[in-house]
Amino acid sequence: MLTAFAKPKVNLFLHVTGRRDDGYHLLESLVVFPDGGDKLSLSPGDELSLTTTGPFSDEVGRAEDNLVLKAAKLLSSRQPDLPGVHIILSKNLPVASGIGGGSADAAAALTLLNQFWRLNKTPEDLAKVGLELGADVPACLFGKPAIMRGIGEKLTPLSHFPDFHLVLANPGLAISTPDVFKRLSPPFTDEDPSSENLPTELSELVDWIGHRSNDLQSVAIELVPEIATVLEEISSQSNCLLSRMSGSGATCFGIFAMKEEAKRAAKNIKSCYPTWNVSTHSHFETSPNE
Ligand code: C5P
Repeated sequence: MLTAFAKPKVNLFLHVTGRRDDGYHLLESLVVFPDGGDKLSLSPGDELSLTTTGPFSDEVGRAEDNLVLKAAKLLSSRQPDLPGVHIILSKNLPVASGIGGGSADAAAALTLLNQFWRLNKTPEDLAKVGLELGADVPACLFGKPAIMRGIGEKLTPLSHFPDFHLVLANPGLAISTPDVFKRLSPPFTDEDPSSENLPTELSELVDWIGHRSNDLQSVAIELVPEIATVLEEISSQSNCLLSRMSGSGATCFGIFAMKEEAKRAAKNIKSCYPTWNVSTHSHFETSPNE
């Protein structure tokens, strides 16, 4: 059996820098992929099939609409007679919540199926297929800290990223990404070509991120006002260095230097808001060459 984790995608900042004629928005965003997330397992089967398990499996919807099956169909579309495969998706993170769940699942599926079917596709080939499935899929395939531009397909890897810990909190309300983008209107934020020159020390990095924003946050709060409460709750926790919304929401994150601090904050938040989804994740330094 082949297995892989689909790590959550967290946008530490997200600027919208323009809109294309086809309606897609141009972005400049710092994305990171902390640990935890959904899990995919592949085993030989009679046909292509998907079973969903895990705490958020009820939210996943119809299998045929799932990006994992769409990824499998797209990857195999020009390859006749590939063997059947059974995919088990363990859904550990909330859906439609701004942390790339479906995109990360699709990326993990492309990576595993490329091995399973021995297709020998390069990372560039997979990124092209991934972009057809969603703007975040190429970044999720890369899976390491990067500045994301274009609609999400232009990635600049970042090295020497410090270790930190995140609390992710979500009010349990799904939010539609197209609805959030639709509410945005110009002027957009200017692109910053110096965004690759990040500080490598955590407090300086947090300060640097603090001078940027998530341009989707205020429009997402108009749609789901509870997001403002989530942000206040996270930022009021001891030792929280910064709190912000990820992607198009509704998941918000808090950055902490120490794992115990993040765990304590998550426990406090969960005790005040038992219906929220709250989890902790660690991000350890990675190098783009590893
Ligand atoms: O590509 P994906 O399916 O994740 O995008 C969902 C929707 O979010 C798109 O149909 C579009 O309305 C909006 N979007 C956008 N600009 C992006 C990414 C997504 O406008 N860069």
